[in-house]
Order: sequence, then C-alpha cells, then structure tokens
Amino acid sequence: MGLVSAKGMLDKAFKEGYAVGHFNINNLEWTKAILLTAQEMNSPVILGVSEGAAKYMTGYIVVADMVKAMVDSLNITVPVALHLDHGSYEGALKAIEAGFSSVMFDGSHYSIEENIKLTKEMVERTRKLGISLEAEVGAIGGEEDGVVGGGEVADPKECKMIADLGVDFLAAGIGNIHGKYPENWQGLNFEVLDAVNKITNETPLVLHGGTGIPVDMIKKAISMGVSKINVNTECQLVFAEATRKYIEAGKDLMGKGFDPRKLLAPGTDAIKQVVKEKMELFGSVNKA
Ligand code: 13P
Repeated sequence: MGLVSAKGMLDKAFKEGYAVGHFNINNLEWTKAILLTAQEMNSPVILGVSEGAAKYMTGYIVVADMVKAMVDSLNITVPVALHLDHGSYEGALKAIEAGFSSVMFDGSHYSIEENIKLTKEMVERTRKLGISLEAEVGAIGGEEDGVVGGGEVADPKECKMIADLGVDFLAAGIGNIHGKYPENWQGLNFEVLDAVNKITNETPLVLHGGTGIPVDMIKKAISMGVSKINVNTECQLVFAEATRKYIEAGKDLMGKGFDPRKLLAPGTDAIKQVVKEKMELFGSVNKA
C-alpha cells in the first residue's frame, strides 16, 4: 500500500473517538516489531522519527527507503504514515524530500508570531504535496534527542491561531513530559485540553509523552479530542529490560546465543507487546 499521510487516519480517529499510536523507531528491529504488530492488530500506525534517530540511522533517505521497502516486503496492508517527530524547518524540508508522508514542524520554542509565520509556510508546502503536518504550541516538557521543553501549558488562543492556519493535527502542551514522569507530577491539565479542543474547530489533537500516563488519563484525553498519542521511552525501557535479562541469564554465552538475531529477539518481542497493549488502550484495533 505504500506510505500514507496521517490526515485521513487522524480525522477518522477524531470523529470515531479513538487515538492512533505514534511509535518512535530507532532501527530495523523497532520498525519491524511495530509494523508487524499493526498488521496483526489491523490498526493504522504512525512511525515517528526524531531528527536524532534519523541521524543515527544515517539519514532521512535511508529511513524512508527502509520503511517503504519493509512495508512492501512484509505485505503490510494497514495504513502506515512515516512522520518526522519535532522537526526543525530545515529537517522537515529534508524529510519531505526523502519521502516521509507526514512531518511535525515544531515551532513551539519561537515567539508565537514566528511560530505562526513558519507554520503557515509549512502548511502551504505540505498541502501541495499531500503530506500531513503537525504543529506545536506550548513546548512539551522533558528532553528527547536534544529537544528540551519546560513542561509548559499551551494558551488555547494561541492554539486556535495555529490550528486556523490549516495544520492537520496539533500538539498542545497540557503538562505532559517526554521520558519518565517525576514522582510529583501534577497530571494532565484537562481544563486546558478542554479549552483547546473547544476552540480549535475539530483539529485532531496530539498527546506527546505517552510513556507513563495513567490509563484513566489517556482515556479521558481521547474523549476530549486527542487522536494521536506518541510513545517512545516505554519501548526503549522494555527493550533494554528484556535484553538485560537475556544477558544476565547468560543466554548470550550458550550455543549461538550471541547471534544478534537471537540476542535482540527478546527486546523486539517486548516492543511488540507494548505496541499491542497501546493499540488496545487507544482503541485503534480493527480501525485500519
Ligand atoms: P515518551 O518518550 O515520553 O513516550 O514521549 C514520546 C514522544 O512524545 C515523542 O514525540
């Protein structure tokens, strides 16, 4: 089927009251685990790639070509979007050129005027190409691949200004944080989410920092217009844990247990399990 824009899948999710998972990829194993699980669950899926992960995988072209070829060779028939996560303006242009089907232009660290100006330009570029665009207002807290946010809460009026530019989906800071949540985390700010949802004219909303948000908060957020939920750290944690267990059990020292295809298998299976659970929680199973 090839890659698709995320617009259609998120408009449908918004209308029907569920969310599509955005799972960040880091390498071939991650990509394969997520694609196979999406197919098994008959769920649409968004593969997220940060600029740091793209650099690690040696560039946007390698990532786009790998994902497209893998969708093909694994006979994946569910909708798959390849999405640049927290892109800079230049990064978004490079990802588009390489064949990504969706990009996030994260202008949240600029003044609102500059964010509006650059997002507007990006709307014009992506719309012509049928590529979906995510924008952001109010930086997400924590740190992801060098992108640091202060855990801000977005101003609903600014969200409306950005949504009105015609972005396909919008990330608004509502107290969410990338990585693990601190003990004293106050939880998601549903007052702000409600205000943003009411004022942004049916623009699907994006919840970053999906790792560690309690189930009831996830469900409530979905009922209030969140249609895309980003998960990264949780897959990394379970991959590391499963790999550590394998090594601590001495399995790499038994027979050909050092073969990377064996060594990386428990971690890959652990990612599959997380993706499956998230798809069930987000309600995207059988929505392909
Ligand atoms: P987590 O790493 O907290 O799951 O957040 C992922 C994310 O928001 C990617 O943009």
